[in-house]
Amino acid sequence: MSSRDVAPTDQVHPGDPVTVDRYTKGARINHWITAISLVLLALSGLALFHPSLYFLTDLFGGGQMTRTIHPWIGVVLFFGFLGLFIRFWRLNLWQRSDTVWMRKLRDVLADREEEDKDQALTEVGKYNAGQKMVFWSMSLLIIVLISSGMVIWDQYFSQYTSVEQKRIAVLVHSVAAIVAICVWIVHVYAAIWVRGTIRAMTRGTVTGGWAWKHHRKWLRELVTGGAPKNDKTGATPAR
Ligand code: HEM
Repeated sequence: MSSRDVAPTDQVHPGDPVTVDRYTKGARINHWITAISLVLLALSGLALFHPSLYFLTDLFGGGQMTRTIHPWIGVVLFFGFLGLFIRFWRLNLWQRSDTVWMRKLRDVLADREEEDKDQALTEVGKYNAGQKMVFWSMSLLIIVLISSGMVIWDQYFSQYTSVEQKRIAVLVHSVAAIVAICVWIVHVYAAIWVRGTIRAMTRGTVTGGWAWKHHRKWLRELVTGGAPKNDKTGATPAR
């Protein structure tokens, strides 16, 4: 936790808004490489998916170039997400409180967290159940996408696969891609909808108010110095 944009004297002044570190620079670079590659992958994939979207190949230098580049962007996404997975998987492990949070989703959507008597909605750790579901579904989808993608990557793998396998792989690949785009939309919508979240991934910090309102358990752990040792995402003990 730090004072806002630490003053030249490095001192905390009363009245300065309190900010809390949430992501290191490394985690943010890792995140944005993954995010950009997913967007490029979706655009190049849609361009190859249906003739009506073929015009999107212009963004990548034509049809042939799009075909060549699309699988390589997939490789970047895979390794980018692998980096995120290694950083965040422990913090996304499901807990019993997450099931309670899910049951009360309607209250979250209606912004009624503060009225929650058993505090399942307010006392949330670094990630809430919704974020965890996005995390695990993206993990699964990316594995399905890369493996089905390799089956249809003729340039390198054609001699290892049959036509029948390729037919099935194309179908699996397309369905997984559409679901991944939907999950991505949910992720971005939630990041914009919960005000003050985007800055976590741009500046690396959030306000104390945001942390108190949405991830109180995480904030408490920071303040008492009890943040999990496996947290390599940039959270430092709060002052
Ligand atoms: C391009 C638009 C995207 C935006 C605006 C965006 C925004 C954000 C923001 C603001 C956070 C911080 C949330 C918090 O700390 O509470 C976050 C976290 C995260 N994002 Fe994104 N993101 C985007 C794309 C992606 C993509 C494409 C992926 C993966 C394929 C991804 C994976 C993650 C992961 C793993 C986290 C950490 C949260 C967790 O582990 O549950 N993001 N994102």
